[in-house]
Amino acid sequence: MKIIRLNLKERSYPIYIEDGSISKCGCILKKLNIGKDAVIITNHKLKKILAGKVKKSLVKHNLSYKFYTVPDSEKAKSFQSCLNLIDKISKYDNRKQIFLIALGGGVIGDLTGFVASIYKRGTPYIQIPTTLLAQIDSAIGGKTAIDLPAAKNLVGAFHQPKTVIVDPKILKTLPKRQLTSGLSEVIKYAVIKDKALFSFLNKNHKKILSLNKSAIELIERKCITIKSKIVEEDEQEKKGIRTILNFGHTVGHALESAGGYKRYNHGEAIGLGMVCASEIAFNLKLLSRENLNKIINTIKLFRLPHKIKGINLSKIIPSLIKDKKFIRAKNRFVLPTVIGKVKVIKDIPEVVIRKAILKHILPN
Ligand SMILES: NC(=O)c1ccc[n+]([C@@H]2O[C@H](COP(=O)([O-])OP(=O)(O)OC[C@H]3O[C@@H](n4cnc5c(N)ncnc54)[C@H](O)[C@@H]3O)[C@@H](O)[C@H]2O)c1
Ligand SMILES: [Zn+2]
Repeated sequence: MKIIRLNLKERSYPIYIEDGSISKCGCILKKLNIGKDAVIITNHKLKKILAGKVKKSLVKHNLSYKFYTVPDSEKAKSFQSCLNLIDKISKYDNRKQIFLIALGGGVIGDLTGFVASIYKRGTPYIQIPTTLLAQIDSAIGGKTAIDLPAAKNLVGAFHQPKTVIVDPKILKTLPKRQLTSGLSEVIKYAVIKDKALFSFLNKNHKKILSLNKSAIELIERKCITIKSKIVEEDEQEKKGIRTILNFGHTVGHALESAGGYKRYNHGEAIGLGMVCASEIAFNLKLLSRENLNKIINTIKLFRLPHKIKGINLSKIIPSLIKDKKFIRAKNRFVLPTVIGKVKVIKDIPEVVIRKAILKHILPN
């Protein structure tokens, strides 16, 4: 089994990557020794698909289990579901040694991590991510959050999991649109940090889209290594290093919000955000036309949208200004300079941003 260690002193943890690793969760947890009673947070759909394997492995290693399900949508990242869970967990937690398991995508991972961060001032939890996005991104690094009506992820905490169990085989049941959404973040990692990964993506897109075992394992290993290193250097996003993970996210978040979180899912919006950020970099003469085209072509190759449809600039700009990355009305963009390197640029004139976005909006 491939193990990547995320080193954060006493908060360090192993990340296991292997086809079928979900069936070894009991063994991994027994060795971790973080508790005897697992509280598994998931949704109905995933419980049907995965509960059997998890239960079997926990029981085999003398660990007890209890499942709690939450609704299958971003709505689960709310104060209400957080309170419901804490209420149920506290009633169940009688003379037990509980720990939480997030069994799901980024929504369940963020919610479970947040509940774990506040229940008894911090309870151990582990992540078993089930979407590509969660396996390479959200399950790693300890950012937990719930949403408020005013904005997504507004309430949260840093709380590192005790381990992350990545089973690429689980992705077989993932809807295609969720898969390509995760691939958008893979492209992000390649552009910000890894030219070789970028070439690999371009050469192996068919294998990756058809979930070829070795291709998926390779991209997961590479992305998880990049994310882990960045988190090790800047756990709480205080040194500006973790910021580079926001490539594509400034315009991306504005598109998600301007589209009412319906038109584009996260990965699709981030793909479009990467197109716009790269266009800004080209306009500022930081990125060559050749590399701009390479980035856009890779996004196309993975069947992600590369042109903004049905959202006007007049809706995008106000959402952009509200973004938390715009500190005191000053903007901040992560811009690629070559494939594998980015720079954080502040105070880009609004006209440059408008022009770049406009170039990639399809006329009605
Ligand atoms: N904490 C972080 O660092 C971080 C980073 C990026 C994103 N996020 C958060 O992650 C969330 C998005 O996560 P997501 O893209 O994983 O979406 P998601 O959790 O909503 O999952 C997407 C859909 O896929 C289904 N699904 C999940 N795994 C499946 C499987 N194996 N088979 C079949 N269906 C499956 C889910 O039930 C859901 O309907 C957002 O809330 C975002 O804010 C957090
Ligand atoms: Zn993202």
